[in-house]
Amino acid sequence: MTLIDGKKIAADLKSEIAREVDGIIANGGKRPHLAAILVGHDGGSETYVANKVKACEACGFKSTLIRFEDDVTEDTLLAAIDSLNKNTDVDGFIVQLPLPRHIDEQRVIEAIDYRKDVDGFHPVNVGRMSIGLPCFVSATPAGILELLARYEIPTRGARCVVLGRSNIVGKPVANLLMQKSNPGNATVTVCHSATPDIKEICREADIIIAALGVPGFVKADMVKPGATIIDVGTTRVPDASRPSGFRLSGDVDFENVAPLCSYISPVPGGVGPMTIASLMKNTLAAARHEIYSLD
Ligand code: GUN
Repeated sequence: MTLIDGKKIAADLKSEIAREVDGIIANGGKRPHLAAILVGHDGGSETYVANKVKACEACGFKSTLIRFEDDVTEDTLLAAIDSLNKNTDVDGFIVQLPLPRHIDEQRVIEAIDYRKDVDGFHPVNVGRMSIGLPCFVSATPAGILELLARYEIPTRGARCVVLGRSNIVGKPVANLLMQKSNPGNATVTVCHSATPDIKEICREADIIIAALGVPGFVKADMVKPGATIIDVGTTRVPDASRPSGFRLSGDVDFENVAPLCSYISPVPGGVGPMTIASLMKNTLAAARHEIYSLD
C-alpha cells in the first residue's frame, strides 16, 4: 500500500509556482493577486481561507481578504463582487462557501466575472469543463487529478466510482475522469443517496473517489483488493483529546481499508492541501491570462 502524500505534492506544486512568479517579477511583470471574500465565522471556512492566504505567501502572490459578518445583505455582497470584477489589480477571486441561508449562493457565483472565477464554479467554467474546453477547473477535482497523474495511477479503462454528486466535487470529478484525456478515459459511475447496492458497485471499482461527507462510510467489505482510494471527506468530529476539540474525519474507514489498497489518500494530508495548491495554479493561470483575456 502506498500512502498518497498530498502535503508533499502540494508543497512541490507551490514551489514550482513560486519559481514561476520569481520569473514574472524578474521580467518586470505584475505579482499575481488573489482576493477572497469570507462571510461569517464558520470554523472550517476560517481555516480554509487562512490556509489560502498562507499559500499565497508561499507562492509569492499578493492576497486580499474581504470579510463580512453573517448578516451581510446580498446586495452588499454583490457590490463587493462587482468591485473585484472591475479591480484591474485583482487577477482572480473566490467567495468562500457555504454562505448564510438568506443569501442566494447561485446568484453570488454567477455575479463573479467568469474570467476571474479561479474556483471554477461559474456556469461558463463548469460548462466549458464539461465539454473539454480551456477553463478554470475547480480546485478539488483538479487536485485529485493532479494526485492521480503524479502517482502515475492509470485511469484509462479503469472503473471509477464517485461517491457523492456535489457541484464542487462529485459532478466535476466524474466529468473529468470520463473525458478523453489523461488522467481520464475512465468508466465512471456516480453513486448518491438514492443509489441502491452501493457496496456491490464499489467492489467493482479500480478507483473510488469518496466525497459524501459521511465519516467512515467506505468500509473494507466495499473495496476490491488493489483498488485506489481518494478520500475527499473532511468532517469535523468532536475529539476531547485535541486542543481544538475536534479532528478531521475522512469518508473512509482508513484503518481497515488502507491495508487492502494499492494507493490511498489520508485525511488530513491528502486531497485538502492539493485543493489549495490547485487554486494557486488557477490564480497563476489567471494572472498570465492563459485561459481568458480580460480585454
Ligand atoms: N467551500 C468548500 N470548498 C470550497 C472551495 O473549493 N471554494 C470555495 N469558495 N468554497 C469552498
